[in-house]
Amino acid sequence: MATPLHKQASPEVVTPFGPFLDISSWNPVVLGAVLGLIVLVLVKSLTRGQSKVPQSPKKPQSPQSVTSSAPVGMMTTDSGPTQPPGDKEFTAAELARYDGTNAELPVYLAVKGTVFDVTKNRDMYSPGKGYHVFAGKDASQALGKSSLKPEECVPDYSSLTAEEMETLNKWEAHYKKKYNIVGKVVD
Ligand code: HEM
Repeated sequence: MATPLHKQASPEVVTPFGPFLDISSWNPVVLGAVLGLIVLVLVKSLTRGQSKVPQSPKKPQSPQSVTSSAPVGMMTTDSGPTQPPGDKEFTAAELARYDGTNAELPVYLAVKGTVFDVTKNRDMYSPGKGYHVFAGKDASQALGKSSLKPEECVPDYSSLTAEEMETLNKWEAHYKKKYNIVGKVVD
């Protein structure tokens, strides 16, 4: 016999996954650990979903959070107006007295000529606070432009783009929904 056949045949057990899965050659400690792990994973996957407390359905998103274009401040949950609209008339100079500087007076601001009482959120509009720039005046232009620049806190909104006008109208609706109307600005 020229070809020693027994030398060609492998003496190893050939598994479809190679010699690694020949578990008979594994260290018994490793084998135990692996088997234990497999059992653990199986038990876990079988019991999954059975012992869990049923989850409550996801809360629906608020309309504001769905409308991504809505400015951040419009996401309010405050209660709405508590009084019927007032009809007081304010000149710009009169309105300016209600800018939060005088703690004895309410805080007012105007949007598109309508004066709102924002006293319940005095802390947002007081001197030194972020929105003080809007207090005691009609800052329609700035609201439309989503701006806090003092020079844009003016009543004239004729220069706004269609998109900015939409933003301003949203702010107007926001204030109407949230605050009492005191009156309007007259020239
Ligand atoms: C990073 C930017 C901003 C953040 C994080 C922010 C956040 C807020 C928050 C948390 C409120 C309070 C909402 C509530 O309690 O009702 C608010 C109110 C307000 N935000 Fe902003 N804001 C930002 C920028 C602006 C800008 C640029 C403007 C310019 C128009 C603006 C205008 C307003 C107004 C007018 C309110 C008052 C609304 C009210 O009295 O109900 N915000 N903002």
